[in-house]
Amino acid sequence: MIVLGIETSCDETAVSVCKDGEILSNIINSQTIHSEYGGVVPEIASREHEKMLNIIANKAIIDSKIRINDIEGIAVTNGPGLAGALLTGVSFAKGLALGLRAKIISINHLEAHIIANLLGRSDIDFPFLCLLVSGGHTQIWLINKLGDYSLLGETRDDAAGEAFDKGARILGLGYPGGPEIEKYAIGGNNKLIDFPRALSDNGKIEFSFSGLKTSLLYFMDSFEESPSISFKDVVASYQSAIIDSLINKIKLAIKITGINTIAIAGGVAKNSELRRQLKTITIAKKIIFPDLNYCTDNAAMISYLGEIKFNLGKKSNIDFGIMPNFQI
Ligand code: KG4
Ligand code: ZN
Repeated sequence: MIVLGIETSCDETAVSVCKDGEILSNIINSQTIHSEYGGVVPEIASREHEKMLNIIANKAIIDSKIRINDIEGIAVTNGPGLAGALLTGVSFAKGLALGLRAKIISINHLEAHIIANLLGRSDIDFPFLCLLVSGGHTQIWLINKLGDYSLLGETRDDAAGEAFDKGARILGLGYPGGPEIEKYAIGGNNKLIDFPRALSDNGKIEFSFSGLKTSLLYFMDSFEESPSISFKDVVASYQSAIIDSLINKIKLAIKITGINTIAIAGGVAKNSELRRQLKTITIAKKIIFPDLNYCTDNAAMISYLGEIKFNLGKKSNIDFGIMPNFQI
């Protein structure tokens, strides 16, 4: 089956074509305009999606070498995300589905991030644990099988991606903060500053990152580079505090559930230090690393999950709405 997937929940305009489980095209336009503001401006994001959607969809169709009339189903993110941004994608998808007389299905963005782990792989057995770490979410899920997920725990306040983004702003680095922090941390001594790892010993699967960001803010107030502490050391120590918190709770989730296959998902899953540290968890039997192209927001994960759902006989009525606060 040929499915066109559309993703516009935040600041990526993305369209992909999936055929029989294979991604034929995966086009993403990341809106760089937000870097001027240090974060995503919702109104601007919607306007940019509106401008780019048709161009990106055309490119995805051309790249996939299908004809537009071959599209049998349209899958589109309807939440969670920014309301205006979601509306642009959903409206575009509905128009296209009606015009092509194709089926349509709404997709939960978080479920798509998790299921991106299965993309292009046949060696993944259920159940597994999934650390979902994006700009808006930090959660540990138990994935029993397709469509059967239990939330084991999540952040009380900021998400891990937010800790990267807000930390980068305090450090005077660019947006998005994750890749910037990863870059500036290289060669730094990550043990030099002892930033807090909140809730690490409380025995519960939960995270908190808001205190960490405040502690960086206070630290930077009086920080001056010296031969004993460089800027890189600060960045590396801050990155380590985020990653240690994630690793601590993954270990706890393995102990509590007895499940020792782990997957990661979401933008922060791109982080190479996180990937390196995950490999050191001795009680983990198998660690699934999603393809780097499918970690940050993309439409491949939407078209892929859409096709799975269509094949299970699922579809949406054309009058479905957006769900900005959608949980799985
Ligand atoms: O999944 P995603 O693209 O969008 C949401 O659904 O939120 O995640 C975006 C987040 C941002 O906070 C960004 O700073 C973070 O992922 N991110 C990273 C890296 N690349 C993106 N964080 C750490 N290291 C990275 N290499
Ligand atoms: Zn995302």
